[in-house]
Amino acid sequence: MGKKALYAGSFDPLTNGHLDLIYRAANLCDELVVGVIGNPQKIPYFSIEERKWLIEQEIKDMQNINVVTFSGLLADYVNNNGFDIVVRGLRATMDFEYEIQMAQMNARLYKKNVETIFLMTNPNYSFISSSMIKEVFSLNGDVSGLVPETVLNHMILRKQGVK
Ligand code: COA
Repeated sequence: MGKKALYAGSFDPLTNGHLDLIYRAANLCDELVVGVIGNPQKIPYFSIEERKWLIEQEIKDMQNINVVTFSGLLADYVNNNGFDIVVRGLRATMDFEYEIQMAQMNARLYKKNVETIFLMTNPNYSFISSSMIKEVFSLNGDVSGLVPETVLNHMILRKQGVK
């Protein structure tokens, strides 16, 4: 049976760093599910459905990637949907402590052996986060090249009050 992997995050919005990770993770497994999840600690910019749609626009040509939305515990979603692998990205050492804590807590909650695989973020994007993109963009800074074009266009429409 093929290996099924989950890459979950807020993706608010999707960045080129996320996208690079999505492509690379998809090459490592048979099926990759990108899970868009609300993070109660973060004020949403795009709705969960908008974020899902924006990711779908970028992965249209990839046969083995699906985008879903879910809520609640990541470990519950993993248990209920038969995942073998959870993929996470590491941008810098500062990510490591938070990530290991989360991976170890989740590991206690998985009902079968699920491996958390960490991929090093592409150095071209290791300094960005969705919040930084939003902040720079809101102050009229240039974020082109850091987010997919469709995402940037949607951010422009949002700023113009069209979306
Ligand atoms: N390139 C660019 N940016 C990246 C990146 C990459 N490769 N990888 C991460 N980032 C950014 C993200 O956009 C995010 O930016 P933001 O904080 O400005 O929004 C930041 O780095 C942190 O990313 P991440 O740790 O993936 O946060 P997240 O909110 O996207 O995802 C969840 C965290 C949703 C996976 C986690 O909160 C979760 O599992 N929630 C479910 C509830 C649960 O099970 N809780 C118990 C956990 S033990």
